[in-house]
Amino acid sequence: MTSITLEVNGERREAEVEPRRLLVYFLREELGLTGTNVGCDTSSCGACTVLLDGESVKSCTVLAVQADGSEITTIEGLADGERLHPVQQAFHEQHGLQCGFCTPGFVMATVSLLEENPSPTEAEIRYALEGNLCRCTGYHNIVRAVEAAARAGT
Ligand code: FES
Ligand code: FES
Repeated sequence: MTSITLEVNGERREAEVEPRRLLVYFLREELGLTGTNVGCDTSSCGACTVLLDGESVKSCTVLAVQADGSEITTIEGLADGERLHPVQQAFHEQHGLQCGFCTPGFVMATVSLLEENPSPTEAEIRYALEGNLCRCTGYHNIVRAVEAAARAGT
């Protein structure tokens, strides 16, 4: 077992983990942060996307020990109490989801995108989110949601 210390959604967490433990399972099973989903386990779908030191990463491709000393933000860390984060609000208003399974990953990837590029074009949005798969929406409303979030400012 290896000791790790990291900050998750602003809270310092210390844990003993097996070196082979994936970050996504550490978040879900040890910290109970089940908003981060596992869709494929093979780095294809993006359902497990979180922010690692501000950058979006697929947490099924990161070992928990690699996150030692880092700051992690999951979907649970975005809202301010009852007030949704602007990206969450935009996905809600633009109907950028159906079953919602992929949504936390899309939201986290969008937060990262808009931090790097606050006014992306539609092509830039589609390119930035190409690592996130949705089996329900057909993507159009997701793109509309990202555009709305950009207009709202994050
Ligand atoms: Fe990580 Fe699909 S579960 S990319
Ligand atoms: Fe169902 Fe995206 S809303 S997979």
